[in-house]
Amino acid sequence: METYKVIVVGMGKRGTHHAAAFHANPRFKLAGICDIDRARLEAAAPKLGDPQISTDARALAAAVKPDIFCFCTLPNLRSDLIQVGIESGAKLIAFEKPVALTSAEGLKIKQMLDAARVKAVVSHQHRYGEHYKKVHEIIASGALGRLNTVYGTATGWMMHMMSHLIDYALWFNPAGKAEWVMAQASGRGKMTDIHPSPDYIAGFIHFSNGVRGIVDCGAGAPDVPEVPYWWRKCRIGAQGTDGFAEVMTGGGWRAVTKSGSFAGHGSMNYDLDMPPYIQEMADWLDNDKNPHACNFDSAYEGFQVMMALCRSVVEGGQIALPLTQGMDELAALKEKLSQRKVLFSMPENAKEYPG
Ligand SMILES: NC(=O)c1ccc[n+]([C@@H]2O[C@H](COP(=O)([O-])OP(=O)(O)OC[C@H]3O[C@@H](n4cnc5c(N)ncnc54)[C@H](O)[C@@H]3O)[C@@H](O)[C@H]2O)c1
Repeated sequence: METYKVIVVGMGKRGTHHAAAFHANPRFKLAGICDIDRARLEAAAPKLGDPQISTDARALAAAVKPDIFCFCTLPNLRSDLIQVGIESGAKLIAFEKPVALTSAEGLKIKQMLDAARVKAVVSHQHRYGEHYKKVHEIIASGALGRLNTVYGTATGWMMHMMSHLIDYALWFNPAGKAEWVMAQASGRGKMTDIHPSPDYIAGFIHFSNGVRGIVDCGAGAPDVPEVPYWWRKCRIGAQGTDGFAEVMTGGGWRAVTKSGSFAGHGSMNYDLDMPPYIQEMADWLDNDKNPHACNFDSAYEGFQVMMALCRSVVEGGQIALPLTQGMDELAALKEKLSQRKVLFSMPENAKEYPG
């Protein structure tokens, strides 16, 4: 079996998770790590088999010529590193959600990857949680009857959380293509955050199979009282003619079907979710017929839905998908959003939304 050479760029929280998971899997050789912060690299390298270290991603990629170019930088850095990955000759580029901050940059990334014919993967790894997989299995088994609704809520803000919510809602409704969306948004406090977002955004997705998607994300989204940890107050599920099934990111799962009422444990856990996410990269490189569950094309569908929801806020009314023209939705939102302070769904949100 081939061993795939990997470099990881951006050794913060998520880069460290990725590098550790590659290092732990014998299908990969972690050949290099990169960060603009040299102290971070020097601290990390001995725990990761002493790979080559560099503060310059392009120089490291040129020296190592990796099979996998992985980067885990903050969302303001995307297309430049996609370019470095393509130039390095990597067969697969793995990067973090969100795909980009604007549809203009997302479209550019798609065109770059398509032209270079490079495989790419985006880290929506929550789906490997036992509780996520259980809910997916129940929905896919047909136990809910004819699906009519998929939904996702999170109290965290859009550029952090909505990418996840939409990705899993689309996963729960694989037979439908998103055809249009409509949304509203409120609150400017997080527009200057490193994950720039309206404080609250909520909207509808119409799918080709008649299923309705409902996404509700940020300061106004409902509490998930079952989950104590604020960042994991996310509820994602599906309803059909015969019942419902839903996962709570930090609080297990539940389902009611014709056979009864069921529930189980599970909480998002990087240590458990990263190994299968990383393993599927080897599986896909081994065999084109085994695409990664978090492949770029599927992530891009969700990304377009998110950016179309933003456009609906800006332009009003329904927005048709797919998006054919790129736009800077964040700049347009800055113009559009009212100065009124966002209203909360619960007092606890005031701590995360002071602005
Ligand atoms: N999938 C998930 O569950 C999940 C969870 C948290 C964060 N994220 C995403 O992961 C991404 C990174 O978040 P994080 O929390 O790890 O951020 P972080 O701030 O901890 O790490 C980012 C690192 O990138 C480095 N960096 C910046 N510019 C660089 C450059 N030009 N070259 C090399 N290194 C550079 C920084 O020095 C820093 O160490 C974000 O897009 C975030 O949305 C995903």
